[in-house]
Amino acid sequence: MEAIKTRRSIRKFRETPVPENLLKEVLNAARLAPSADNAQPWKIIVVRDEQMKQKVTQACNGQKFLVQAPIVLVVCGIPEDAFQTVGGYMSSHVIDASIALDHVTLAAHSLGLGTCWVAWFKEEKVKDILGIPEDVRVVALSPLGYPDESPERPSRKNLEELIAYDKYE
Ligand SMILES: Cc1cc2nc3c(=O)[nH]c(=O)nc-3n(C[C@H](O)[C@H](O)[C@H](O)COP(=O)(O)O)c2cc1C
Repeated sequence: MEAIKTRRSIRKFRETPVPENLLKEVLNAARLAPSADNAQPWKIIVVRDEQMKQKVTQACNGQKFLVQAPIVLVVCGIPEDAFQTVGGYMSSHVIDASIALDHVTLAAHSLGLGTCWVAWFKEEKVKDILGIPEDVRVVALSPLGYPDESPERPSRKNLEELIAYDKYE
């Protein structure tokens, strides 16, 4: 609950590198995420090369905080490995990859690291830069590094707006 309550999206990072053992711990948190039928239809690309980070940042409409972080994580979903009929109508790859990234954001925060979901990107460009196969989808990206800001807590809707009991209303 502490990590859930205090995590913020971080868009300013220190230059300090992320120690390898912490990176592994964060990635392992993703590995432990649940997925439909336990299919684990996702892959995370860890981008650390400066030039690659710059290119990826361009493909994310120039959101500069990405290149400033020591690491950029690119979270991919693999439709052909996914459970195909969530609710009878959809593939689970976006859900499963998203849960993995959510684990990453919370684990990172608990270890003193910052992240920020990034979904404003051009998929074709990200795929070209990183050699991601045609049939694999880019779901989201996130910088990973030591925070250099402590943002205020953004507002949230009240529980009454978000939760219904016994029937939708
Ligand atoms: C699916 C998704 C996509 C997002 N895309 C971006 C993005 O492209 N750029 C950005 O700066 N923040 C992005 N965010 C971060 C949100 O703006 C942020 O989570 C929200 O304002 C709440 O703030 P908090 O994460 O600090 O609680 C995204 C968040 C989610 C969940």
